[in-house]
Amino acid sequence: MPPAVRRYVISGLLIAALVFLVAAGFLAWIGGEGGLTPVAPATTGAEAIQDIYLFIGAFASIIFLVVTVPIALFVAGFRARTRDRSVEGPQIRGNTRLEITWTIVPILILVAISVFVFVKLPGIQEPKAAVGEPEVTIRVEGRQFYWRYVYPNGAIGIDRLRLPVDRVTKLAFTAPEHDVVHSWWVPALGGKFDSIPGQVTEFGYRPTRTGVFEGRCGEFCGLQHGVMLATAEVLPGDEFDRWVEETARVQQAGDSDLGEELYAGVCAKCHDLAPEYAPRIAGSPVLAEREAVSEIIQNGRGRMPAVGRGWTDAELDALLDFTETIAGRAG
Ligand code: CUA
Repeated sequence: MPPAVRRYVISGLLIAALVFLVAAGFLAWIGGEGGLTPVAPATTGAEAIQDIYLFIGAFASIIFLVVTVPIALFVAGFRARTRDRSVEGPQIRGNTRLEITWTIVPILILVAISVFVFVKLPGIQEPKAAVGEPEVTIRVEGRQFYWRYVYPNGAIGIDRLRLPVDRVTKLAFTAPEHDVVHSWWVPALGGKFDSIPGQVTEFGYRPTRTGVFEGRCGEFCGLQHGVMLATAEVLPGDEFDRWVEETARVQQAGDSDLGEELYAGVCAKCHDLAPEYAPRIAGSPVLAEREAVSEIIQNGRGRMPAVGRGWTDAELDALLDFTETIAGRAG
């Protein structure tokens, strides 16, 4: 292949790769979840954040190509292999039209981005509930290493939060005084909030579609931070109402699966998943000793945090009933 042709083949491939890189990000977005763009939004606020991301992303992609494609072309096309190293290149001075252009164009781009962001900002702020819309506040407690959700009627959820679609639901983010800072982050819902010990931060979300959205704790909070996942399930309004009512009823009556949920969300994350930090307890006869288990989960011991401090009697009983059933059974 003659050198001139080879140069253009190489720069052509380079340019194709650059264009592909940019296109891949946007194609992934058009095709749905993943890729270089954020997950598909599921609340009004997350939609506004996504719009801003794409608007700025489009400009950034164009600028990326405007800079890198000519570089690739020039590197290939204007390489002067034959020139002696001591010879200076041509001296070019000042080009007023070019300089004015590269001053004004960025100003226009920044103005466009600012205007767009200011138009979208109100949509990111907390949505207001419509008149007559039932407004529910759910307490979101970050704890080592699980999320505890307390609904207004006393229903308890561990790790999985339920929300009604098309209604504003307030989340009250907090953590117990004896715990550490966590951060509740479900990207599809937008808005990441810290759970700070002894403080309550409230924010309302209005989900726009039903579905199950995955998230995680976004603040390093200790050895098992990595397994502190958060799942938000958006349900139709009437289904949500039924679920909250029914859950509170069976939990108070003591015939729910809360005990198993607590064991999986609170105990197993260390005692099953991290034998290097915590002894395996599945099948241990100690699990049947209600007094001992109750004491240790409320006060902690050594490296084990007081995971059950502040629980309701229904929660404690549910867990102890469950651990009793698995005590002495081989793991
Ligand atoms: Cu909780 Cu990281």
